[in-house]
Amino acid sequence: MTENILVCTAWPYANGPLHIGHLAGAYLPPDIFARYQRLKGNKVLMVSGADSHGTPITLRADAEHISPRELFERFHLSFLETFQTLGITYDLFTHTDTENHQRVAQDIFTACLNNGYLFKKTVAQFYSVSEGRFLPDRYIEGKCPHCGYEGARGDQCDNCGKLLEPTDLVNPRSKNDGSTPTLRETEHFYLDLAKLSERILIYLNDKKEHWRTNVTNFSRNYVKEGLVGRPITRDIEWGIPLPLEGYEHKRIYVWFEAVIGYLSASIEWAKIVGEPDKWKDWWYQPQAKTYYFIGKDNIPFHTVIWPAELIATGRLYETDPTKSLNLPYDVPANEYLNIAGEKLSTSRNLAIWANDLLSHFDPDTVRFYFTAIAPEGRDTDFTAEDFVRRNNDELVANWGNLVNRLVGFAYKRYEGKVPPIGAAGLDEADRKIMAEVEAGFKTVGDLLNAVKLKSAQEEVLRLTRATNVYLSEKAPWKTIKEDPAVAGTAVYVTLQVINNLKILFAPFLPHTCQKLHEYLGYDGQLFGRQYTETFSENEQPHVALRYDASQATALWQPSELPVGQVLREPLPLFKKLEPAVAEQELMTLLGK
Ligand code: MF3
Ligand code: ZN
Repeated sequence: MTENILVCTAWPYANGPLHIGHLAGAYLPPDIFARYQRLKGNKVLMVSGADSHGTPITLRADAEHISPRELFERFHLSFLETFQTLGITYDLFTHTDTENHQRVAQDIFTACLNNGYLFKKTVAQFYSVSEGRFLPDRYIEGKCPHCGYEGARGDQCDNCGKLLEPTDLVNPRSKNDGSTPTLRETEHFYLDLAKLSERILIYLNDKKEHWRTNVTNFSRNYVKEGLVGRPITRDIEWGIPLPLEGYEHKRIYVWFEAVIGYLSASIEWAKIVGEPDKWKDWWYQPQAKTYYFIGKDNIPFHTVIWPAELIATGRLYETDPTKSLNLPYDVPANEYLNIAGEKLSTSRNLAIWANDLLSHFDPDTVRFYFTAIAPEGRDTDFTAEDFVRRNNDELVANWGNLVNRLVGFAYKRYEGKVPPIGAAGLDEADRKIMAEVEAGFKTVGDLLNAVKLKSAQEEVLRLTRATNVYLSEKAPWKTIKEDPAVAGTAVYVTLQVINNLKILFAPFLPHTCQKLHEYLGYDGQLFGRQYTETFSENEQPHVALRYDASQATALWQPSELPVGQVLREPLPLFKKLEPAVAEQELMTLLGK
């Protein structure tokens, strides 16, 4: 049965380039997952975009004396480059400064209002007398009332992860000039989370066995501690205007509208492919499964706030009264990637920028390494030595050498063709290794489906090691001297196994598996085509990343490489890294 799978990834703030923490935590995992689901033959829609609003953008734009638009466009393009090089196959990667997104966000605001889930309140907010304006949350810092952390921001404490209001902070100060802000009255709209909390708790308690325990626990506790209304409008200039007479000068709060991007991007995608209602296959079909890949700091927004918005909206662009928008099926949030034990930090210059890394190392090497050390259940550590060691000892020695040795041998010694099984037929060892790797479609598939990506890659490596053991015992390069037909059987068997391993590895290592596919004599594509496209109709022109799946087919099953199929001369799939040189390169990239 084909399933509809929506793969959502956090919308990165377009206020700086992506670093390896983003890749390992939020962007590589969904791509592996989406590629697997496509190979399974499921209908995948993978969407996201640049988060172009919010104070992270205006803070940096102010500092550089440029407009917020100029700033976010620069980093949006940088994201597209990262994703294209690394092979992150979004069906659509757009941004939040499109007319489409603005319309959908405003319509959801209106729906929540009409359904009685917004209320108005006049509150005292921090106002900077020196600057003559209200200060956005992130422009205010102070001490966290929950954990006592001194550098907590007005929207969230980075130390304990709790969401905050600026007025919660002890000893608040302006980030701009350190002055103590004064309180002034202003009117805002609030999302009535108290009214929604029972429904959210029902949602969080219903069939969540497949959720990661840290995500379930954090979310349930968060709701149990008591939900109160959260303001969803701001007195700022950059952002989406309220769709309400008399309030046009106020803006929708970035966190309220950025999560709406998942829906608006799906709608934009459907329009682009010329089937404007197609997004409903993922948003209204109750069997559709929606996944949200994020870092752990984003958990409450995806397991509580976004479900609350969806519940409050009820139905959008849909008249059938029995329908409601799908709530997140799974939110596989990751922990953090550290560098040699320290937290990545842009301000302290402790980071490796994704585009720098990808200009020095092959995308599949990078994908392999960050999957091997994925911060799935706990924080993990990036070190230069480990990067080099895993590339050389695992990727090259275990998988790359197996392919090059055996496909090269078949190419040279068997007239460039897949040899037949010898007259003696298959023995016990031949059958065993073939069956073991064929069973991988189930074992690896189950792990991938459960978003246990690290274990899934380890399982493929285990099968690769078993293949190496089989091949050393058979040693066809020795037996060929006495009996080419017997050696041919081992070559035949190993080629079959490699051909299947190629599919098992494909979600992790799509670029090199495509090459291997060609060395094995195939012409087709394992995956679809990635490209950028500019849209300008009725819109500010904007560039988006796209994926065309029409070339790709469902390949996640054992298949037979036909006897006599003409091979192509293989080149090495991976490069062995010279430890001293590579480690030096990585150290230079660190903090560049
Ligand atoms: N821009 C936010 C960040 O980088 C994430 C937004 S995720 C979204 O932390 F769902 F809200 F879009
Ligand atoms: Zn705190």
